[in-house]
Amino acid sequence: MALLMFSAGLLGMTIITTPQGSGLRVLADQIPVNFGAAVGSDLVNNNVDGGKYRQSILSNFNMLEPENDLKPPALWKSLKEIDFTKSDYLINWATANNIKVRGHVLVYASDGGYTIPAWLLAMESSLTKKQSLNLLQFYINRVVGRYVGRIAMWDVVNEAIDDSANGRPYNLRNSFWYRKLGVDFIHYAFKFAYQSDPNCKLYYNDYNIESGGRKANDMFALITYLKSKGTPIHGVGFQYHRAVTDVPTPGDGYYQTIQRVRDAGLKFMITELDVAMPVVQLPSNDPNYGLIPLDPADLTKQAQSYAAHVQMALSFPHCEGIQLWGVGDKHSWIPGFSGGTRGAALLLDKDYNPKAAYTSVRDVFIAKIGPK
Ligand code: XIL
Repeated sequence: MALLMFSAGLLGMTIITTPQGSGLRVLADQIPVNFGAAVGSDLVNNNVDGGKYRQSILSNFNMLEPENDLKPPALWKSLKEIDFTKSDYLINWATANNIKVRGHVLVYASDGGYTIPAWLLAMESSLTKKQSLNLLQFYINRVVGRYVGRIAMWDVVNEAIDDSANGRPYNLRNSFWYRKLGVDFIHYAFKFAYQSDPNCKLYYNDYNIESGGRKANDMFALITYLKSKGTPIHGVGFQYHRAVTDVPTPGDGYYQTIQRVRDAGLKFMITELDVAMPVVQLPSNDPNYGLIPLDPADLTKQAQSYAAHVQMALSFPHCEGIQLWGVGDKHSWIPGFSGGTRGAALLLDKDYNPKAAYTSVRDVFIAKIGPK
């Protein structure tokens, strides 16, 4: 509670009693482990849901990652114009509340609407290799440079490897930066980030690499290559967008893959954990869209899945944290992503009440702390 009062005091707010009591943050701090959530700048700024969104962050997390506000299309408006309004707001708020910030993402290595600015893609044929390299350096130096000392770690490159084999080196995606700079766009991105903040932890982040297989093998081959070039890479982020049937067990592919990161001399994080389930299908304008489990028994399975993921991460000494892809079910990306068929993927329900998964994570934290 001391922490809650401190945070509330800084914000000049009256203290709100939260349904989650003293929250998970105080436990995460004791372990200690970075325990974070993806957060939206506007949602914090607008103090949505009667203050419950902000309050849930303050009581449960000691880290946050802007969900969209640091992505290149959100920041990079034209050649020399970067708009930091929303990211500044959120990062200042986090810093004022003693919450660490994880940066996401400098190069989102595919050609989608939320990955790369449309104006940059439109210029592609007019840019030389040298000009493209200069642009990459300009952007990364400016963004990393702005938050030196305030962003503890960055996803430098996200999702560079394709889901299917494609014949390119490491099965890299056919993205703007790949076409302009070849494989070494990855090396350059890390190098430019390091130039701007040599103390920041620099990560490669991806999905569907969690339990081994072709894509994970490509990533490990890529890491070997980067290390041979002296690329300043520090860690691997595993996204972990999962289903309630996923329950990691010691010795299985999930554990083995995390161990491989350690053997490669790198750290790891679970960066985007959510555990989705089928939900009652409602029209997209229904306030309960994506929020109501189809089978309430899935809430128990979800609790087991969350506990197993957290237990696994904490069992490894090279774990640098666990982060959830959202504060609670109300603003999770899963319903939108799945067309309303899946959702209820986080620890707090639509009204910010703790779910069984919340309790199971809390119990793993308490067991990790051990007897006083
Ligand atoms: C998602 C956000 O959650 C959505 O709000 C947005 O519309 C699209 O991007 N992997 C990532 C994240 O690395 O950046 C994605 O975030 C989810 C998948």
